Amino acid sequence: MIAPAPSNTLMEDIVGLCKRRGFIFQSSEIYGGYNGFYDYGPLGVELRNNIKQAWWRDFVQCRDDIEGLDSTIIMHPKIWKASGHVDGFSDPMVDCKESKLRYRADQLFFAPVSVDGETIGYVSVVECIDQQEVAEKAAAEMKRKMAKQGELDTIELKEYTEAKPEQYELIPSPATGKPGSLTEPREFKLMFETKVGSLADDAATAYLRPETAQGIFANYKNIVDTGRVKIPFGIAQIGKAFRNEITPRNFIFRSREFEQMEIEYFISPNADWKTLHREWINTCTDWLVSIGLPREGISEDIHPGDKLAFYSQATTDLMFQFPHGEQELWGIACRSDYDLKQHQEHSGKSMTIFDETTKEKYVPHVIEPSLGVDRTLLAVLSAAYTEDEVPNDKGKVEKRILLKFSPKIAPVKAAIFPLLKNKPELVEVAKRLHKKLQRRWNVFYDASGAIGRRYRRQDEIGTPFGITIDFDTIEKDSTVTLRDRDTCEQRRVTEDELIKFLEEQIDG
Ligand code: GAP
Repeated sequence: MIAPAPSNTLMEDIVGLCKRRGFIFQSSEIYGGYNGFYDYGPLGVELRNNIKQAWWRDFVQCRDDIEGLDSTIIMHPKIWKASGHVDGFSDPMVDCKESKLRYRADQLFFAPVSVDGETIGYVSVVECIDQQEVAEKAAAEMKRKMAKQGELDTIELKEYTEAKPEQYELIPSPATGKPGSLTEPREFKLMFETKVGSLADDAATAYLRPETAQGIFANYKNIVDTGRVKIPFGIAQIGKAFRNEITPRNFIFRSREFEQMEIEYFISPNADWKTLHREWINTCTDWLVSIGLPREGISEDIHPGDKLAFYSQATTDLMFQFPHGEQELWGIACRSDYDLKQHQEHSGKSMTIFDETTKEKYVPHVIEPSLGVDRTLLAVLSAAYTEDEVPNDKGKVEKRILLKFSPKIAPVKAAIFPLLKNKPELVEVAKRLHKKLQRRWNVFYDASGAIGRRYRRQDEIGTPFGITIDFDTIEKDSTVTLRDRDTCEQRRVTEDELIKFLEEQIDG
């Protein structure tokens, strides 16, 4: 028996808002969409750029120990052989022979349904926020339909990867609801292949990078030889990565084309890596809070030894409370000297560095904080999405949707409104102020509609400040009204005070 998919209204609200207001669109929508690919519209690209710029400024420009890099997406195929991705980068996959649908075996859960110790069938459920509850409901329904008397035993869900061969035939397919069509799990390679050059033989097979990290390892020697780096130091990169995910889902959370912000932080093999790892976990948590995520929504997941990626010595994920449940946002791994040693062996080039402080020569170890841009954007959207009630222009209380973005990353920083669009004196001052602010920040000019409706349109896209030019501005003291998105409170400020305030709030 199949458990129904849970309803997830917050995710639906966010997806709806993103489409309605031009943040994110399904890729190739005019052809029915393309699963696992998303396009970012005018507001989405601003938000995305602001997240990347904040990361780059805080981790590269404001630190003396981290250098930036921009390497190619397609690199020599030997890099992926050396890194272990050609042989080891795969997910366990299970096929439904009847529906031809595919599932990730580690995201498909099953349990025997037993009544007073007698197994009467199996339930299966695709990973979801309340999978235990939905599996229990499905088991109770099975018992009812089979008219079994007695007590249902506890439902203990297991990953399909743990199913015994004799159970494959008994576990129902999520697609058909019937047992007998699921295959045994097998490994599915996640790297996208392409051909480089005019020869269409195997020698020309190349890969779209599944992580930006290998571009850093492949350039490590260039940076050591040309820069003035001293251990410990880091190399940072922002760029696209591609994975042929078996089940892309949850909007932009797991897609097939996404962007990563990665740092490889090189340390001495004798360094206290556990302490440095802890420091990185704390730094990364603080950074997420600095862009507006609530600290209480972030937790840590320490990977048990048998679940570590093939390159990792220790990994802690920063988890975030997404609309579809608590999930990985930022992976912080200790990759030891695995990658550099692999490249040293496969390329024949030395990856050693001379440590000026200890006068030793060694291949450094590495700590890797690896964050997805798209996942950060979804986290930011989820944390910002709010519904409340405020009075409209006529004093009647109405429901309002707002995005409580931090001014640092908000796509539009302020909106400038002349109180009335048919009063040239108001329009002139508003347009002049708009032009002035536009040179520094992404601001928006809006003259159409009742002022309350104009505020509401900006609240919905997360614009933190509304600036209104009214009759006091032109007739009295040149002050403007400054409205706060979250509290709706308004106060009068001079132009100088306004600019100082915006600088503090946006630039920090
Ligand atoms: N270099 C290490 C690495 O790539 P990972 O845990 O596979 O590690 C790091 O990925 C981060 O990249 C994740 O924490 C997540 O934020 C993001 N990410 C990974 N796969 C993704 C996908 N299919 N869609 C969106 N973001 C993804």
